[in-house]
This record gives sequence, C-alpha cells and structure tokens, in this order.
Amino acid sequence: MSTLAPTFYRQSYFHRVSRALLSVAAAAIPDWLFNRAFGPAFAAYRVLMRLLYLRFFVPAVLTGDAERIRKVLAVFRVMPHSLVGRRGLEATHDVVRNVILRQIEGAVVECGVARGGSAALMGLLTEDTPGRPLWLFDSYEGLPEPTAEDFRDGVTGRHVRPLPKGSCLGTYETVQRLLFSTFRLSRNRVFMVKGWFQDTLCSQSNNIGDIAVLRIDADWYDSVRCCLEALYDRVLPGGFVVIDDYGSCFGAQRAVDEFLASRQVAVSLVPDGRGGAHFQKPFIH
Ligand SMILES: C[S@@+](CC[C@H](N)C(=O)[O-])C[C@H]1O[C@@H](n2cnc3c(N)ncnc32)[C@H](O)[C@@H]1O
Repeated sequence: MSTLAPTFYRQSYFHRVSRALLSVAAAAIPDWLFNRAFGPAFAAYRVLMRLLYLRFFVPAVLTGDAERIRKVLAVFRVMPHSLVGRRGLEATHDVVRNVILRQIEGAVVECGVARGGSAALMGLLTEDTPGRPLWLFDSYEGLPEPTAEDFRDGVTGRHVRPLPKGSCLGTYETVQRLLFSTFRLSRNRVFMVKGWFQDTLCSQSNNIGDIAVLRIDADWYDSVRCCLEALYDRVLPGGFVVIDDYGSCFGAQRAVDEFLASRQVAVSLVPDGRGGAHFQKPFIH
C-alpha cells in the first residue's frame, strides 16, 4: 500500500492495537457477525476515547490555564457528535481561536458536517461574535462514491473499513437539533445548506462573502477539489484552510496538492498529529 508521511498520519499505540484486534476479528468470525458487532464495538471505543480525554482536564485545572480548560471542555462536549478524533477537534479549536484573537473577520465554513460535531465546536467558539456567520454544507445523505482519483493500490486511505456511498451519514434534522436545541446556538447566524457541493457551493459563494476559516472534511478527491475551487478565493489572507482528511484519504491529499500546485501557492501544512492538516492562506501571493 502507498504510504503517507508519518507526520501526517501517526497512530497511537492504542489505535494500533485496536486495529490489529479488528483485523483478527474480521478474519476469525463470519461477516454477518462482524458487521453486527462493529457498530456497538465502535460506539464503545468512542465512549472510552472520550473518557480518556478527561485526563487532559486535570493538568489544565492544576495549572489554572483558563484557555486550556475552555478548550478541553469544548472538545469534550462535542466529541460524541463527531467522527473527528480529539487531535482534529483540538486543531480546529486552535485555528478558530486564532482568527478570533487576531480579529480576522469573515465567516466560518464547514464542508462535510455529518452529525455536526465539529460544526458545533466552531459554533460554540464563535457564539460570542454574533457578526460571524457559520455556513454548513453537506448532502446530509452521507458520502458519495469514491472515484478513480481516490484509490492507490486498491484502497482509498487509512480507514478501519472501506467507506461505501452513504457512509458518515448525519441528517439535516439531527444537525439542527444538535446546534439549536442541544447547544442553543443562535439561529440567525447559522446557515445550513443541504445538497451536493457541486450544486451548492458556487451558487452560495457570494452570499458567504469573506471566509476566516474554511474547514473541509469530505474525504474524497472530487469533493475536496470542488470545495477548494469554489471557496479558496473567498478565504482572507491570514485565514485558515483545514483539510481533515489530508493524511488519511489519498484523494483528499491529491486534491489539495494538485489545487495548490495549479495556483502556484506555497503553504506550510501543519499536521494535527492524527491525519488532518491545516494551512494559513499567505498574505502575499
Ligand atoms: C467524515 S464526514 C464529516 C465529519 C464531521 N465533520 C464530523 O465532525 O463528524 C464527511 C461528510 O462529507 C459529506 N460529503 C462528502 N462529499 C460531499 C459532497 N460532494 N457534497 C455534499 N456532501 C459531501 C458527507 O455527507 C459526510 O457527511
């Protein structure tokens, strides 16, 4: 299998052991049983990960670091609703805080919302800046099919299991409930747009206006490329582009590399330590 630079995809020991156990289980037990057990096992794994995340709370409290305490609490709150791991959520937290602290105006945009966890995180962080819109784009039908550009040696990336059409599904109603009932975000600055990016992004681009943070979490080549083609020019210099799947999906990486090369833009990609990466849009181009 093709490899990705280790800086962009680093697994914890726990993760590696879980993967190994999963492979043994997949080989040893019948498919129907494996498929049935996978959902509950994955849910239990996520609960465990969330509980383990509490270990970061203690040092934050002991050092009295208010920013750190707020970060751990915010990430802990959204974790059950997100497919993004804690490192990815923390990286998203940091870029959003960065644009707030540096007073870079502009919208926060997510392309690839699923059940709304990372969107809720960005919504919570920007709730005190009511002039900052939050735009959320998703099919709300799950992932489309991958295309030839997504495959290397027959696989699309470092997923635990293949991701067929409809994977990573979150419905419009689920996300609405999460944002407006569970987290009580104010409705008048949140814009949820349902549909395939190819049909929605260009037509909304003028309405979005300037972008401070563009978070792309869409796995596949066509989807990621479409987001960059439609919205990169709206990102303000000094703003950030987050590519959640840069290190984990071959197509996402290829879309980013090809897009930046086509624009002759040199950026420093900052890995989140798990599979995602972000970069700051250069001031001079
Ligand atoms: C990995 S999930 C997003 C995870 C989410 N950010 C979270 O916090 O859990 C990928 C999402 O991208 C959406 N998606 C991918 N390609 C798309 C496209 N071309 N148009 C619309 N939605 C797309 C899927 O519907 C899916 O919800």
